[in-house]
Amino acid sequence: MIIKSAEFVKSAVKPDQYPPALLPEIAFAGRSNVGKSSLINTLLNRRRLARTSGTPGRTQLINFFVINQSFAFVDIPGYGYAKVPSSVKRKWGPMIETYLSTRTTLKGIVLIMDIRRLPRPEELNLVDWLNHYHISSIMVLTKTDKLSKSKQNMQMRLISHALSVGSDDLILFSAKTRQGTEDVWQAIEALLAEEKV
Ligand code: GTP
Ligand code: MG
Repeated sequence: MIIKSAEFVKSAVKPDQYPPALLPEIAFAGRSNVGKSSLINTLLNRRRLARTSGTPGRTQLINFFVINQSFAFVDIPGYGYAKVPSSVKRKWGPMIETYLSTRTTLKGIVLIMDIRRLPRPEELNLVDWLNHYHISSIMVLTKTDKLSKSKQNMQMRLISHALSVGSDDLILFSAKTRQGTEDVWQAIEALLAEEKV
């Protein structure tokens, strides 16, 4: 994918704050601090378009970006981080569920998991939920630079088993080395090209 333009559009909580549903959209979801914003920046070749941070819970709103004026990326706040105030946490579930279940232009989700961690109930629930709503997903294991090749393969097997998918369904990625950038783009392009039935 050649990136001619990539612009932040707006942040939103509720549907009436979303930008008009005009472009096909890909959303990025995953545990807090897993590297969602870093993945977006790596894909777009921008260092700081999506705000990243060592402090989990950086992204607290749904952030919309438009790429090449032809499709949109959506950075969804991370789930599962204990230190976010519970008033904030209570709003996350409904905010994300409302987005995922009502956004008519949503073409699919990139579900990002840390290659060092086994999926927990939050990931398994999200996968069930996506299946239930027939939302296509791309599964990415990130931070591969933290593990040796043999450990990466071992984790890939364990995680694919836990998620009941094939190892081929998991894309290995690192924002640090850019490993997997092309694979993720290919998967995204395939989703963008899909005709929704
Ligand atoms: P929230 O918005 O808080 O949910 O976090 P996020 O999922 O958007 O994570 P973010 O991209 O902000 O990254 C969190 C931390 O992980 C930052 O310190 C990043 O530099 C680091 N990080 C992200 N991706 C990678 C990676 O592939 N390798 C390594 N080594 N570090 C990474
Ligand atoms: Mg973020």
